[in-house]
Amino acid sequence: MDNKRIYLAPMVGRTDEHYRAFVRILSKNIYLYTEMITCDSFLHTNRKDYKVKEEEKNLTIQLAGSDSKKYGQCASIIEDNGYDEINLNIGCPSSKVVKGEFGACLMNYPDKVADCVYEIKKSCSLPISIKTRLGLGYEENLDLLFSLINKTKLSGCNKYIIHARNAILNGLSPKKNRKIPALRYSDVTTIKNSFPDLEIYLNGGVDDILEIRRNIDKFDGLMIGRKIYDNPMFLNEIEGEIFDNKKVLSRKSILVKYLEYAMSPQNKGTSNYLLLRHLFSLYYNTGSSKKWKKYLHDIIQADREIELITNFEELTHGEEIKA
Ligand SMILES: Cc1cc2nc3c(=O)[nH]c(=O)nc-3n(C[C@H](O)[C@H](O)[C@H](O)COP(=O)(O)O)c2cc1C
Repeated sequence: MDNKRIYLAPMVGRTDEHYRAFVRILSKNIYLYTEMITCDSFLHTNRKDYKVKEEEKNLTIQLAGSDSKKYGQCASIIEDNGYDEINLNIGCPSSKVVKGEFGACLMNYPDKVADCVYEIKKSCSLPISIKTRLGLGYEENLDLLFSLINKTKLSGCNKYIIHARNAILNGLSPKKNRKIPALRYSDVTTIKNSFPDLEIYLNGGVDDILEIRRNIDKFDGLMIGRKIYDNPMFLNEIEGEIFDNKKVLSRKSILVKYLEYAMSPQNKGTSNYLLLRHLFSLYYNTGSSKKWKKYLHDIIQADREIELITNFEELTHGEEIKA
C-alpha cells in the first residue's frame, strides 16, 4: 500500500495518550491523532507541556478556535513538543463549538481560516491540514468547500480530511451529525479530481476491509474513527490485509503489552479508570465480550490490581474467544 495512509480519527474523550498507546500496540502503521483541543485550553492547561512519545509518532494534534494569533502561539510550542502535524477542526457541529465560533461554522468564514493557517505557517515548519465537511445544512452543493480549499491552500495548507457529509448546525446533536445527512463519497472524489495536487483523505463510515480497498486508491488515504474504537481488532485486519503485516497479535499478547505500558513509571499515579477505559471492546463480537466487560468494570470499580487484565483468558476456561 505504497504512500497510502490510514489515520485514526480524532475523538474527544477517546484519543487520549492511553488510547493512542493501546492503538499503537495493535498497529504500527496507522497515523495517530489527539483529541480536539481549543487554542485557549492548549495555552492555559498542562496540555502545552505534553511531549510526544516516540511510540505515538506519527501524531497530529487537532486544534480548534478562530483567533489566528492564538494558533500561531500554539504552533511553535507544538513543534517543540514533537508533534508531526497540526490539524484545524473546521468540521465539529456541536452547539458549544458554534457559540465559540469554531468548528464547522468556520466554513462560512474561509478568510478567517486562511488567516489561521497563515499564522501557523509563520510560527512553525510543521505540515498543516484541515478536517472539514462537504458543506453546511441540507443543501448538497460544494461551494463552501471549494471556497475554503481555494483560500486556505493559498496560505499554505495542502492537505484536507473530508468527513463525507454536511454538518447540520441547528438542531442536530454531534452524535446525530455523524449519521445524518447521508454520506457522499462521490463528492469527495470530485474534490480530489478538482485538486489533484492537494492531499485529500476520505472520512466517514469506512467500516470494513472491502470499503478500505474500494476507496483507498481514489484518495491519498482514509481516516477511520468509530469502527476502530468499537472493535480494536479491526486494526489487526488492517495491518494484515492492507499493510501486509502478518505479525498480528492475539488479544492476550495485546493485554500483556498494554500492561507493560500501563505499569511503566510514566503512568505512576494514573487511575485504573483512565488507563483501562478504552479496553472494553477488545473482545467485541466474541463469546467472551460480556464477561470481559464485567471483569474490566470490576477491576476499575474496586481499584483492583491492574495486573489482573492479563489473567482474563485463563479465567474463561476455554469459552469461545475467537470472533
Ligand atoms: C466520540 C467521538 C468524538 C469525536 N470527536 C472529534 C474531534 O475531537 N474532532 C473531530 O474532528 N472529529 C471528532 N469526531 C468525528 C470523527 O473524527 C469522525 O469524523 C467521525 O466519527 C466519522 O468517522 P467514522 O465514521 O470513521 O467514525 C468524533 C467522533 C466521535 C464518535
